[in-house]
Amino acid sequence: MSPVRPAFIAGNWKMNGALAANAALLEKLRTGLSLAREAAEIAVFPPFPYLDQASRLLAGTAILLGAQDLSDHADGAHTGEVSARMLAEFGCRYVLVGHSERRALRGETDEEVARKFGAARAAGLIPVLCLGETLAERQAGATLDVVFRQLDAVIAAHGISSLRDAVLAYEPVWAIGTGQTAAPEAAEAVHLALRQRLASQDAAAETPRIVYGGSVKADNAARLFAQPNIDGALVGGAALYADDFLAICQAVDP
Ligand code: PGA
Repeated sequence: MSPVRPAFIAGNWKMNGALAANAALLEKLRTGLSLAREAAEIAVFPPFPYLDQASRLLAGTAILLGAQDLSDHADGAHTGEVSARMLAEFGCRYVLVGHSERRALRGETDEEVARKFGAARAAGLIPVLCLGETLAERQAGATLDVVFRQLDAVIAAHGISSLRDAVLAYEPVWAIGTGQTAAPEAAEAVHLALRQRLASQDAAAETPRIVYGGSVKADNAARLFAQPNIDGALVGGAALYADDFLAICQAVDP
């Protein structure tokens, strides 16, 4: 981690949760994080129907709220979609764009992800842009080609300055939900390459946080966070367990 960028730890609940279980989890996070050091910015990303519940239960705490997806349109005849403005109205500060599950299962293209990034920005939300290669792409030596292509689609659509206060999440697809975390040094190499690509186009590129995602757990978080360009984590499975998520938050150095 770098002393100049505040750490960011995000819990992506994916399609998990229920009213009673959410209330119990959020209560434990409230209590646990009020006792913890204020070393990191912490956010949870529940499914859409639970945003209102989470927003009410998190009121008055430092835990921020995010959504897992958004429409690339502002409003209108898009049945089933949710706009950035609606998310902002329900207290979201952040929104994931381009999570690999949406790219793979919903066929989201780089261009659609870039449009969603723009829609988030237009409503004042901070996009968390997810990037990452599949196992086949890694084995073919194409990791940087893939993440640069995904990043460049956003830069082409919105300009480099649109990334200044965004968050990038490097999530190798083969590490998500598999228990196979990238080696800290291998993840760091990709984070450094992403930062250098930003820096080559923008002198202010020190600012965007680049967090790692993919089987982050209580027992591997500290080693990942020890890398200079890993600014936090996007946590899936472990975010559903208060003790595990709190331990990851507490692995951030003060
Ligand atoms: P995981 O998910 O921590 O369960 O691997 C990470 C993610 O998909 O954001």
